[in-house]
Amino acid sequence: MIQFYIAAIILLLCLYFKYKLSYWFRKEIEGPSPIPLFGNLFDFVVTKKKHFGEIYKDIYDAYPAARYVGIYRMQQPALLIRDLDLIKDILVTSFNTFNMNEFSIDPHLDPLIAVNPFCIPGEEWKRKRQQLSPLFAQNRNKTAIPFINDVSKRMIEYMEGGPESSKMEFDVKELCAKFTTDNVAAVAFGIDGESFTNPNAPLREIGDEIFKPTFMTGLKQQIVLFMPFMNKFFRIPFVSSETDKKFRQIVGQVVDNREKNKIKRDDLLQVILDLREKHGKEEWDDTAVIGNGMTFLTEGYETSSTTMSMTLYQLALNPEVQKRAQLEIDQLLALNSEINENVINNTEYLECCIMETVRMHCPVFHMAKISLKEHEFPPQYESSSKTVKLPEGTCVVIPVYAIHLDKNYFPDPMKYNPDRWNKENKDSIPKYAFLGFSDGPRICLGMKFGITQVKGGLIAILSKYNVLPTDKTDVPFKFSKSTFNLQPQDCLWLKFEKRKDLVNKE
Ligand code: HEM
Repeated sequence: MIQFYIAAIILLLCLYFKYKLSYWFRKEIEGPSPIPLFGNLFDFVVTKKKHFGEIYKDIYDAYPAARYVGIYRMQQPALLIRDLDLIKDILVTSFNTFNMNEFSIDPHLDPLIAVNPFCIPGEEWKRKRQQLSPLFAQNRNKTAIPFINDVSKRMIEYMEGGPESSKMEFDVKELCAKFTTDNVAAVAFGIDGESFTNPNAPLREIGDEIFKPTFMTGLKQQIVLFMPFMNKFFRIPFVSSETDKKFRQIVGQVVDNREKNKIKRDDLLQVILDLREKHGKEEWDDTAVIGNGMTFLTEGYETSSTTMSMTLYQLALNPEVQKRAQLEIDQLLALNSEINENVINNTEYLECCIMETVRMHCPVFHMAKISLKEHEFPPQYESSSKTVKLPEGTCVVIPVYAIHLDKNYFPDPMKYNPDRWNKENKDSIPKYAFLGFSDGPRICLGMKFGITQVKGGLIAILSKYNVLPTDKTDVPFKFSKSTFNLQPQDCLWLKFEKRKDLVNKE
């Protein structure tokens, strides 16, 4: 009898999975065949042969005439969007319908991450984003430059006097992570992050705990992204309680010191503390204040450090591009004694290099939004007239990595060509074909600061060194298959050689 019940349960489960995975068939929307339980993500979740960004690219390339494709992320149906007009509709025109990122964070489990505007939907997001806008205003960016200049000097001192200085070979992923962590520490909290002087610098440890590609970070991110229902049982926080405690201690001490001693500083924490004074401690309790600090750390260091390290990687592989960037930097530094607003604003070619890096190696591989109400989508193919209404809760995936490598928008897409972004050429890039910082009302809040800090670090390095690949450098670049954001699979080794033209001048 027991065998009968087991067989019946297995049969019912199979029928349930089959039914769930026939969602797009029933809607008459084409897409690749799913595998039970894993949908179209088998090679990401099980075999680890591909990152989900690559899987989306394969699907994107396989349906060149479709506006969208029906896919399954594990058991969950989602629409993979190909058409740029539809992307505009999702990000801009019908923004209120798609104003929810798929990132499901439980505020009880992850109180510090839950205040990040990225994790907040609807009206609450609007209020939060308005409140935080002063933190990212243009003049704030200007006040950040002296801090960035200072940290750049510490980075060069570390390169010349630190443990790797005899060989001058560095894992640039780590070097740039140290640099952007210390920038965030200085610009946001007015403290020295100690990344270049302390091997156990607490903020670096926190960054690693959240982002470093390990089995645990990979598992946590997979659950949050693709199996949020499982977290109801396992209750794995995105940020561990030790990390939460450590971060509260660091920022809490700075806040206490400022409040007790009535110290005011020109940094982002001050903007948050002023908001607390204006709106009261009920709205801006310790979790809100420290959580916004955490937003700065998580958003501010990782994407920028990836962009900076991948730009160094591309410059090492493209020496003629590197020379042009150095020439521009040299000319500006000859007129300005150090990195200042003038140098940052006028390094136009360097900015083209950064944009080209974000295109080819976008730190955010995809964006996924959940609809907050029913939405009518145009026909899947131009040849058809059948529109489709999809219910509230539908997940739409914008495959940023695939779009950035589409030859229809970026000819010869695997060529690192910063000139795509110069004044003459950039207007020929179709709108919404570049989504490295997203677009519409949820466009990256820290884009200007991100570009500024990456520029600052690159100027400091390129004004002194030539960057070269070593025999340990991975060519072509291999990225980690287990993290949410773009990360190198292993270390990213590059060699730094004092520039001969400068040596001759000395
Ligand atoms: C090169 C560096 C950066 C890149 C490539 C980048 C990319 C992005 C992207 C693609 C999004 C949108 C994600 C989505 O809608 O699904 C985003 C959102 C966001 N970014 Fe950035 N980012 C960078 C640097 C920064 C920095 C330095 C900060 C802050 C210090 C920051 C703060 C934010 C915040 C708060 C959001 C959420 C905005 C919202 O949902 O309203 N970013 N970023």
